[in-house]
Amino acid sequence: MVKKWLQGDGSECLRRERRVENVKKIGIGADGAATQLKSTLIEYLKEAGYEVEDYGSEADGVDYPDVAVEVAEAVAGGEHDRAILCCGTGLGMSITANKVPGVRAAQCHDVYSAQRARKSNNAQVLTMGGRVIGPELAKTVVGAWLESEFAGGGSASKVAKMEEIDRRYNAVPR
Ligand code: RB5
Repeated sequence: MVKKWLQGDGSECLRRERRVENVKKIGIGADGAATQLKSTLIEYLKEAGYEVEDYGSEADGVDYPDVAVEVAEAVAGGEHDRAILCCGTGLGMSITANKVPGVRAAQCHDVYSAQRARKSNNAQVLTMGGRVIGPELAKTVVGAWLESEFAGGGSASKVAKMEEIDRRYNAVPR
């Protein structure tokens, strides 16, 4: 869809919106090791037409488990159907987010993994490392992840098995 955009000087221009229609407001968080990556991605997402909720605090001087659990709980609670978490490697964010029942977080630094994280694993959370990936590749990976949907089919029963394991260890009704 072509939409009107306001440029920095207030004048209007026409741009093609790249936003995926059914994606609600995207949550994003980072620790101090990925403040720059988070800013880059927020700019990229907004420019593409997405609404973004930044879970950042001052220069992101937070421990990764604290922001990961806040964002993952917002995903589990239905506030966001997609969220992005950035730390030095993407690992701490992923490990923490996956402890919240119902959340499937995947660390991806390449396009194929990002696509499979959606198509095969139905991952609602993408994690990345600001010390691992450069800004241009990061934007491409995020774009591929947002544009990919869960394939269902043979993957559905496997995701259902993950959910069953989740329920086994977390007696939370859903
Ligand atoms: C810094 O705390 C660093 O360990 C963190 O950003 C992340 O890489 C952890 O997985």
